[in-house]
Amino acid sequence: STFFRGRHFITTQDFTNEELNIMLDLAKDLKIKFSYGEQTPYLLYKTLFLMFFDQSTRTRNSMQAGIAQLGGDGIFLSPDKMQVSHGEVAKDTGVILSRFGDGIGIRHCTYGEGNKYLNAIAKNSKAPLMNLQDDIYHPFQVMADLMTMRERFGNNLKGLKVGISWGYAESHLKPLSVPQSQILLFTRFGMDVTLAYPKGFDLMPDIVKTAKQNAENHGGKLNITNNMDDAFVDAHVVFPKNWGGFFISDKEEEIRAEQAKHKDWKCTEEKMKLLDKSGVFMHALPADRGNEVEDSVIDGPRSIVYDEAENRLHTAKAIMTLLMGGRY
Ligand code: CP
Repeated sequence: STFFRGRHFITTQDFTNEELNIMLDLAKDLKIKFSYGEQTPYLLYKTLFLMFFDQSTRTRNSMQAGIAQLGGDGIFLSPDKMQVSHGEVAKDTGVILSRFGDGIGIRHCTYGEGNKYLNAIAKNSKAPLMNLQDDIYHPFQVMADLMTMRERFGNNLKGLKVGISWGYAESHLKPLSVPQSQILLFTRFGMDVTLAYPKGFDLMPDIVKTAKQNAENHGGKLNITNNMDDAFVDAHVVFPKNWGGFFISDKEEEIRAEQAKHKDWKCTEEKMKLLDKSGVFMHALPADRGNEVEDSVIDGPRSIVYDEAENRLHTAKAIMTLLMGGRY
């Protein structure tokens, strides 16, 4: 693991396919050991700081449970209780936390700020910085997605038809970290990816350009359409996350108004009939049940959302083990 030790993980683009495969192989091994109750103290006495500017269920708890299961300690930090709330700069926070511990994980999704903050911490941290979602990327989510797809369809996912739709999120003016990370990663494993969204809901042009380059380099495809059905026809996997956003902000009215314009961008049983017969429904969660997906789909036999969520734990443990210098 020496070539992983101390490296930051801000986007999957920071690692080669071979390195990502090593992470996923370790995640698989950790999952098996966890199922047998076998101990995996690979990060004994190591300390991880977890700084969350935004809410989380899966990410926070997969990291905190994960570091505990690896024998280390996860310290949860609320920025509003830290001096960053009084304007302390990223450099000072990054230097200090990295002198106290062995790893730093941060979620900071504020548009235009999150990724910049993470990079500023990374630049000044001698401990690995792990991106637990920023305004551009959500690498830990897509690693769990990839692991789940491999479990379902085998390790060689070349040619797998994947549909991603994202009709509405916190704001259509914001870049969307999940689909952006998905198109970057899945194209690198030769998948045939279709991204569907209503006109005007484009992802960041640079990310799309890189994803197209990834597809070219790895025999994948990236198709972009404004018709949701195009992402579903013959798909092996669909990731419809159309309505996005829980109403945690003062933007509820704005979100509702946008939803009304795109009511048909919803994953229904009817739409699921368009899939290949082996096709499955995936979703990073949380899901806005009723608005973005029918209960009968997310609770139905083709939904693998709980496997996907569980794999957040195993992939997080693998990534921490490798970056934080654990033995395995
Ligand atoms: N998928 C995901 O990142 O979930 P949380 O927001 O609950 O961490």
